[in-house]
Amino acid sequence: MKTQPVKGFSKLSKEAKIEWLIQNFTNHPDETMQMLTGYWHGQPEVQKLHDEFIENTISNFYMPFGVAPNFLINQKMYAIPMAIEESSVVAAASKSANFWLDRGGFKSEVIGMVKVGHVHFLWEGNEIEWMFDLFESHKNLFYDHTNDITKNMRLRGGGILDLNLIDKTELEPGYFQIEVKFDTRDSMGANFINSCLEEIAKTWRNLVEESKSNIQPDVIIVMSILSNFTPECLVKAEVSCKIDDINEGSGIGNLEFAEKFCRAIRIATIEPYRAVTHNKGIMNGIDAVIMATGNDFRATEACAHAYAAKNGKYTSLSHAAIEGDTFKFWIKLPISIGTVGGITNLHPMVKFAHELLGYPNASDLMEIVAVAGLAQNFSAVRSLITSGIQKGHMKMHLLNILNQLEATDAEKDEIVSYFKDKVVSFSSAVEVFCKIRGISVGSLSKSK
Ligand code: MEV
Repeated sequence: MKTQPVKGFSKLSKEAKIEWLIQNFTNHPDETMQMLTGYWHGQPEVQKLHDEFIENTISNFYMPFGVAPNFLINQKMYAIPMAIEESSVVAAASKSANFWLDRGGFKSEVIGMVKVGHVHFLWEGNEIEWMFDLFESHKNLFYDHTNDITKNMRLRGGGILDLNLIDKTELEPGYFQIEVKFDTRDSMGANFINSCLEEIAKTWRNLVEESKSNIQPDVIIVMSILSNFTPECLVKAEVSCKIDDINEGSGIGNLEFAEKFCRAIRIATIEPYRAVTHNKGIMNGIDAVIMATGNDFRATEACAHAYAAKNGKYTSLSHAAIEGDTFKFWIKLPISIGTVGGITNLHPMVKFAHELLGYPNASDLMEIVAVAGLAQNFSAVRSLITSGIQKGHMKMHLLNILNQLEATDAEKDEIVSYFKDKVVSFSSAVEVFCKIRGISVGSLSKSK
């Protein structure tokens, strides 16, 4: 199929966009149109809301929205909303929540909420001391010139916290930064920070222009942008219990379990291949809550992994220790999120997620998200060091396999019950399915 480039695609109606895609890229026009329009929301005004989140919306992309109940966090009960496609994540979180519910629950605490952004610029000239003096003696200008932008944030108790000029010339000749720290209260604050930074960059360029006389330095603004690495926007979540209370039911002794667990965490601490998978498991829990609450999972991911590598080597985000007769397990990581702004007050499911959590502020939500990551990690490591991960994982994945095989509800019930005490694999599921249906495995692979 030879496809011609399209002009003005964004201006086409939704139907016309789909028509063009169907004509150029698919072989099943009626089915495709039906499928895409089938995912439109029944209420046109709600669909319009979704259409306007991004450009060129043609339909909605469904993800399961699940809930992990029984999370006791700082002595308050939560049912945590999770949007995720991976079969076992919500089940694992729920299991962990129940486990720790009987052992005092989770403690979680925000350590800091400072966000950061930079004006990256080049300084062409030798007058470095002059530049630093100029910056320091005119700091108030940066606050004054951003007054209009920061007004509402200041009324809410936030705003610009600090500005500093940083010499980065050891990295790149002539490279300097104005580093600005922010308190963005309950918003993630990306737009606020970027608007402030662009104004600060303008102020800086004008200040240098107006102040230089005979000297010839020049400032070249490269870019003004927030950093998604926010090591001062930090949260810690933890659980602990007496080793005698671990009693986790897999048949191994309590102390042996605690020691095995700590060893697994140590391997994730010292070995990057394991650390990446270990942290991926943590992010299973974190991203699911981030998505459900309408936050930016790309920013959260980028930041978490940068933090995991902050000392020059990628390492575990979680930690475990045996102290006397107590087992301790904790996580500390930066999470920069918001409970106002963005789509938090627009997306109906996101609004529901916030209601479910009791309308948390940003700091509460950071605590909940960190707990979801820790809970997820606990379940994963617990399975890994006892039964292995596949037993639980494949049990949850069984329905996906059966749906792929287009099993009926009755067949699904029978097969799920068959596998209750057996380990699931793709081939064993197919075998049992074929047996029940009275067909050969070979005939199935031909028809698929
Ligand atoms: C799978 O999505 C996540 C795990 O691999 C995490 C881990 O290995 O710790 C199970």
